[in-house]
Amino acid sequence: MSKLNIALVGAGRRGGGAHLPVIAKLKDVYNLVAICDIDEETATRYAKEYGATPYTNVRDLIAQEELDVVDITVPGVAHHAIACFMADAGVHILCETPIAVTLPTADLMIESAKVNNVTLEIAENYYRAPRERFLSEVIEADVIGEVARIYRIFYEGGYHGMSMLRLRAGGEPKSALGITQTTPVIPIIDRMKRHHTSERWSLGFIEFDNNATALMVYSNVIHARSLGRGQTGISQIDGSKGTIVGEDIYVTPADELQSGAKGVAYRPKRTTIDVDGTKVIENISLELPDQIVTWENPLKNYPLSEGQIAVADELLSIATAVLNDSEPEYGAALGRQDQEMNIAMGESGKRSKETIAFPLTELTETERGTHESYQQQYGHPIEDIEAGIDTFFPRR
Ligand SMILES: NC(=O)c1ccc[n+]([C@@H]2O[C@H](COP(=O)([O-])OP(=O)(O)OC[C@H]3O[C@@H](n4cnc5c(N)ncnc54)[C@H](O)[C@@H]3O)[C@@H](O)[C@H]2O)c1
Repeated sequence: MSKLNIALVGAGRRGGGAHLPVIAKLKDVYNLVAICDIDEETATRYAKEYGATPYTNVRDLIAQEELDVVDITVPGVAHHAIACFMADAGVHILCETPIAVTLPTADLMIESAKVNNVTLEIAENYYRAPRERFLSEVIEADVIGEVARIYRIFYEGGYHGMSMLRLRAGGEPKSALGITQTTPVIPIIDRMKRHHTSERWSLGFIEFDNNATALMVYSNVIHARSLGRGQTGISQIDGSKGTIVGEDIYVTPADELQSGAKGVAYRPKRTTIDVDGTKVIENISLELPDQIVTWENPLKNYPLSEGQIAVADELLSIATAVLNDSEPEYGAALGRQDQEMNIAMGESGKRSKETIAFPLTELTETERGTHESYQQQYGHPIEDIEAGIDTFFPRR
């Protein structure tokens, strides 16, 4: 496999903290040639650490480097500006989540990638985690039967939550109902250095076209695990013949059917191997009385911690798509759908719990508000790509 030249744009918490250490471990696939961050100190520090060239704006980056792939990890509100600029320069894109903050800005990216014939992959990482890949195998193997209901309470929310609910439901979303509430909290800075002065709480109920339904409860403070919130979550998937509760897979033995149909909990086993001093997950396997379900880690030769596997997976998805001229695993359409569902849920809350049907066909009030506050804060319309790439988007 020939190596691809990659640059990272936006070396903050996600870029510097999560993506760069993984790119450095994928040496057989990527040459990390440049790190671009509008903050000079950040660009220089990370470039030094990773032996790459620092840049403080994407115009210079494109003028100086021959890039195959760009990894965009600037704040979400800037994704479309950087992505459209990169697509125009003919560079393939891996973009952090969300694809963009609104559907019109996501569409700018999708259109720009299409006309420039570049691949756009979205770094949706939740379903790529080993535990979730394994549960996908369990559901695929018909262990719990047909999925009817999904509960994700106090887990990830927003577009990540929607991605997980859709994956587990195995159907297309028909409608969303959202209930939202905002309440004050004392000013806090969470473990990810995010600032919060209010708790934005939401409850979402999604119906799918295959009759499955999903319920999620989320808030920024629960997600942050701050103020004692979110210590335990409920993740339950009810199927026609079994249930997955957290890590436990409940299967009902035939002789229990007439006496309460009590499910027996089976817990998967993880096998790890040592790769260059890193404990690497080799597989996750579930042994049932009449069936064994196993997820094998396809990246087990790399020294990746469990948390890094999903990031490596998305970086390899774009690499494979570029090298084989094929589609990336997730892609822009699914990233857009996650954001569409997320916006619909918020919009439902705003419209006093009106159920919103998919697809969204016109600009929502939620998105109009996002566009207006962008213009107010940054002084140019959100569609202005040239102004966007030169703007500093601060940490929130
Ligand atoms: N997938 C996940 O689980 C996950 C988790 C956290 C964050 N994210 C996403 O990752 C992205 C980055 O989040 P973060 O928390 O690392 O943000 P951050 O604010 O810590 O880092 C962003 C960096 O971008 C730089 N930047 C801002 N404007 C720029 C511009 N015009 N050109 C170049 N650089 C610019 C900033 O200086 C900063 O260093 C966001 O899209 C966020 O939604 C995803």
